[in-house]
Amino acid sequence: MPKDTTSTGQQYSRSTPYKLKAFRYLMGYHSRVCKLILQKTRQPYIYIDLNCGAGYQPDYKKFGNEVLGSPIIALQELNEQGIEPICHFCDTNPESLKILESTIQELKLQCVASYWLGDNSQSLQEISQSLNKSQFHGLVYSDPNGKQDFPIQEIKSTFQLSQMQKVDLLMNVATTYVKRWETNPKANWKVYPLREIINGHGKEYIFVREPENRSLKWTFIYATNWAKQKNLNKIRLYGINSDLGKGILEHIFNPKSNPLPGIYEDGSIAIQGQLDFSTCREDEADEQ
Ligand SMILES: C[S@@+](CC[C@H](N)C(=O)[O-])C[C@H]1O[C@@H](n2cnc3c(N)ncnc32)[C@H](O)[C@@H]1O
Repeated sequence: MPKDTTSTGQQYSRSTPYKLKAFRYLMGYHSRVCKLILQKTRQPYIYIDLNCGAGYQPDYKKFGNEVLGSPIIALQELNEQGIEPICHFCDTNPESLKILESTIQELKLQCVASYWLGDNSQSLQEISQSLNKSQFHGLVYSDPNGKQDFPIQEIKSTFQLSQMQKVDLLMNVATTYVKRWETNPKANWKVYPLREIINGHGKEYIFVREPENRSLKWTFIYATNWAKQKNLNKIRLYGINSDLGKGILEHIFNPKSNPLPGIYEDGSIAIQGQLDFSTCREDEADEQ
């Protein structure tokens, strides 16, 4: 389990910067691609953060220099491309939602926000029922604590709605935890096997990120119906049918039989240190 928890209940660890840097990169890429599409279609953009946290987290400084969490990072990247999203922010902690609301105001970020206090599986069902008939572009982000409770069934139902066909999914998954909870009788929430978390959301194309190996193989699962989505090499995110993607899955499911290249058995290599985020715009160059 991660050792550190903020006063608003967000667990974080040495792995957190690995997540946050890649999240900013991915949101930047995704926002630029969506900008091009939305300029033509004029459709609305929806961002659903199922575990939004407070958005501003000074405690994160313990392991890195990013003090902003997913909802603020997403809004910054979307607003930079002129996208003013419809946002649904979900969390069980009322203090987090309060801090998030005031941070959004303070930073003058542009969005139409709804705040959902309570269990995200219930919130997601209510959000789904509240959607108007628009065809949305957007992202659903799931980033639970070490408990690893992904509301996969509700996510799948949401993506079955016609309005949500073009909305993508991102999940931050500690694959080792998930596998432990699969067989742990103490889990008192709906536990899904890792295979279902990776495949069971109803999106067609699935990408997996090279795991952060020093801790518990945290990885991103990104899923979309967009056939043109390609690998994002800068954050080592690969289609699960590519050779690299297959290798990562094999490693995640069976790490001993297939150690990732460059990662020692004791996990001593810092993948994060090798990542280069300097030329962010390369990945979408040929989408334009
Ligand atoms: C790892 S933190 C999220 C961090 C955030 N995404 C960020 O980038 O800063 C997980 C969050 O999920 C919230 N949470 C835990 N269980 C939840 C549930 N069942 N429904 C909604 N939120 C939940 C916690 O209060 C916590 O804020």
